[in-house]
Amino acid sequence: MPGSDLNRGLEGITVAETRLSYIDGESGELVIGGFPVKELAVDATYEESVFLLLNDRLPAADELAEFRSDLANRREVGDEVRAVLRRAAEEEKPAMDALRMGAAAANLGTGEENPREDARRVIAVLPTIVAAYWRYRQGAEPVAPHEELGHAANYLYMLTGEEPSDPQVRGLETYLNTVIDHGLNASTFSARTVVSTESDVVSAAAAAVGTLKGPLHGGAPGPVLDMLEEVHESGDAEAYVRETLESGERLMGFGHRVYRVRDPRAAVLSTAAERFYEAAGDDSFFETVQEFENVAVDVLAEHKPDRRLETNVEFYTAALLRGVGVPRDLFTATFGVSRVGGWMAHCLEQLDDNRLIRPRSRYVGETDRTWTPVENR
Ligand code: ACO
Repeated sequence: MPGSDLNRGLEGITVAETRLSYIDGESGELVIGGFPVKELAVDATYEESVFLLLNDRLPAADELAEFRSDLANRREVGDEVRAVLRRAAEEEKPAMDALRMGAAAANLGTGEENPREDARRVIAVLPTIVAAYWRYRQGAEPVAPHEELGHAANYLYMLTGEEPSDPQVRGLETYLNTVIDHGLNASTFSARTVVSTESDVVSAAAAAVGTLKGPLHGGAPGPVLDMLEEVHESGDAEAYVRETLESGERLMGFGHRVYRVRDPRAAVLSTAAERFYEAAGDDSFFETVQEFENVAVDVLAEHKPDRRLETNVEFYTAALLRGVGVPRDLFTATFGVSRVGGWMAHCLEQLDDNRLIRPRSRYVGETDRTWTPVENR
């Protein structure tokens, strides 16, 4: 068949130029908006990271204040969206389903049809959607956004109705900055594909949320936490790892399509989590986490000697988000709350120099069938 070079999973294929993030999978380097991830993650507010991605520079103080209040003014959701979220919670749909439904309605009532404006609205509203859904799941009413609080602090506030502590906010902010963008990962690729048809950024966000949901992408940290809690109780990491691998399952939180070394985001989140647990006087859970990582990396090397399987971002995501008080069932949705900054920046970048994304498939079906009427089949 003509045009049939096959690259399953588009592995190693470059389809876009980007100024947003750079990954070297061999050396374990990640640069976001020109900053090594550990520098940006620890020092920036989430608003600064988003501004950086949308504008390719850091904001001056007055620009940051304006941007912060602009996002804060776009946080509210309407009654219709709340009704959908309530229904999703009552039916015990996963948080990612609720987020997809809410994201798809993000341009209701905005009256704007400008990709830059819509991008800000989508970024601003995702935490409100997740938090409202969560409150309904608890049998409570949503907590209205607090306009004085920054993006990260307000998210935690809307989940519980209580103002979070500084270490909680710093822990969450570090997480949000760390995972805001990561090259042409599957959900970002979905978002760029949607706008490459000259569709809109709200549609792109809904598609990206759906893509992020799967366990091979953003769905891993919940199962990672289950695994860590089980081992924290049993005290036997090695038995857990061996049993999982012997039963043919994958160990969640390990392996990556691009990295052949430890994911640099795991290092940033591990430091943040360690700091958080130490300050909270809760060292014992974090000790389990570290021991699990050491054991798992050794056993994986034995299990797959020809493929380096190292710790990925999801492993320490689970540890850190548990610490700062994000409920387990919201881990993937919280990933979306961060990554939406990257999705929207990629959409605008794609639109600035657009070319329809349209790969090919290799046909392996029949070519010489003849039609049989239904009564003769
Ligand atoms: N546990 C056990 N074996 C593994 C693991 C793992 N975590 N990861 C890969 N392998 C094995 C595979 O079984 C495969 O073996 P085979 O060749 O005998 O079939 C080999 O290593 C290569 O795996 P691939 O599937 O080709 O690797 P790919 O690049 O497609 O997958 C992925 C990367 C999906 C992340 C994979 O490592 C995985 O499933 N990990 C567990 C889930 C996870 O942690 N997901 C979060 C990813 S991070 C993120 O998206 C933000």
